[in-house]
Amino acid sequence: MGDTHRQAAELTGVTAMFPSNEILHGDCTRVLKQLPDAFVDLIVTDPPYGVRYQDRLGRTVANDDDPNRILGAFTDLYRVLKPNSVCISFYGWGLVDDFFRAWRRAGFKPVGHIVWVKDYASRERFLRYRHESAYLLAKGQPSLPSRPLDDIQTWLYSGNTDHPTQKAVRILTPLIETFSQSGQLVLDPFAGSGSTLVAAQITGRRYLGIELDQKYCALMRERLAFVST
Ligand SMILES: C[S@@+](CC[C@H](N)C(=O)[O-])C[C@H]1O[C@@H](n2cnc3c(N)ncnc32)[C@H](O)[C@@H]1O
Repeated sequence: MGDTHRQAAELTGVTAMFPSNEILHGDCTRVLKQLPDAFVDLIVTDPPYGVRYQDRLGRTVANDDDPNRILGAFTDLYRVLKPNSVCISFYGWGLVDDFFRAWRRAGFKPVGHIVWVKDYASRERFLRYRHESAYLLAKGQPSLPSRPLDDIQTWLYSGNTDHPTQKAVRILTPLIETFSQSGQLVLDPFAGSGSTLVAAQITGRRYLGIELDQKYCALMRERLAFVST
């Protein structure tokens, strides 16, 4: 499967109507508005958490100082998702109220919560912070998976080589296998280094990624070029 990397402004014509196996460079709150209704089968995404993250190398995440700038994207994410489908969104627990408001305003109904347990603390303060979490959000009434996933999962450290908050592909593949079918389209509007897209390609799904930072768009292309289905 080939991938193309285009400026969102270049979206024209029939292929642009239903982009697939593509990486779109731009602000997803704007790019999503150019996309049609109800053409995505599954959304798996990892938006900025609102923690002003900075790693030991000084790397930061765009819009992580104020996720309210990006939470409006969920309204268009709901629109582009097919009826009776799910969106899985990681989130920052410190801003859970803001995330929830955005999800509910968009129309999503929470139908599950997944916690990944780490064998190390990513931070120590009031607690030793040892988990990541995501909500399973429904549009309409999705059918139940044939093999439901445990809502407690083991975290795998990605090494963060390509991105400061890179998710390991192996924590994403079970989500994609459980909530989509072979050949279906998986969207990640905050694609970062493209872990969701790689997981989609490995599992035989089509992908669509949107990312604000041009350097990560280039990096995703390289990653995806090395992945065979
Ligand atoms: C938490 S990171 C995602 C990391 C990704 N899961 C991975 O494994 O590499 C969030 C990403 O969203 C991007 N981002 C922030 N605001 C955005 C926006 N408005 N539109 C598109 N991407 C955005 C950031 O540049 C960052 O790469």
